[in-house]
Amino acid sequence: SISFHIWLLILNIPHLPSSPVEYSTEISESASIGSFVGMVTAYSLSSVVYEIKDGNIGDVFAINPNSGVIVSQKALDFETLPVYTLTVQGTNMAGLSTNATVLIHLRDENDNIPIFMQSEYTGLISESASVNSVVLTDKNVPLVIRATDADKESNAFV
Ligand SMILES: *[C@@H]1O[C@H](CO)[C@@H](O)[C@H](O)[C@H]1NC(C)=O
Repeated sequence: SISFHIWLLILNIPHLPSSPVEYSTEISESASIGSFVGMVTAYSLSSVVYEIKDGNIGDVFAINPNSGVIVSQKALDFETLPVYTLTVQGTNMAGLSTNATVLIHLRDENDNIPIFMQSEYTGLISESASVNSVVLTDKNVPLVIRATDADKESNAFV
């Protein structure tokens, strides 16, 4: 699916409430480096310079100072951090600035291989056992093979 996010900041209204506007978007954690995340646009009579002021943990995102386009500049990983809260500032030629909060939710992909709890399992079953018989361990309990998966929800089914 293609998503395209353009957010509008309004810079030229002096009495605009100072509480920052908030925008949110989602990007797959497997998105390639340089992927488009969103675009912040400030409406101003003079040109605007954009900057990420806060929340860019690990410098994962970059903003083009002139266009306001936000791209990823590093590999993303949901298991490291699922949500980024960026403070984006736009400043016009008159020195007026305003902030927007951009929430970037990473979408979990099934990118972690399951890991078996043991490297080897031994089970015993009689060659004369009927179909659907349970395989037993040497302690005479049913053999259960377990694996764990670091992904979330349905991506963690093993
Ligand atoms: C915008 O955010 C920066 C960094 O958090 C802060 O220093 C600045 O005061 C904020 N500006 C406004 C207008 O809220």
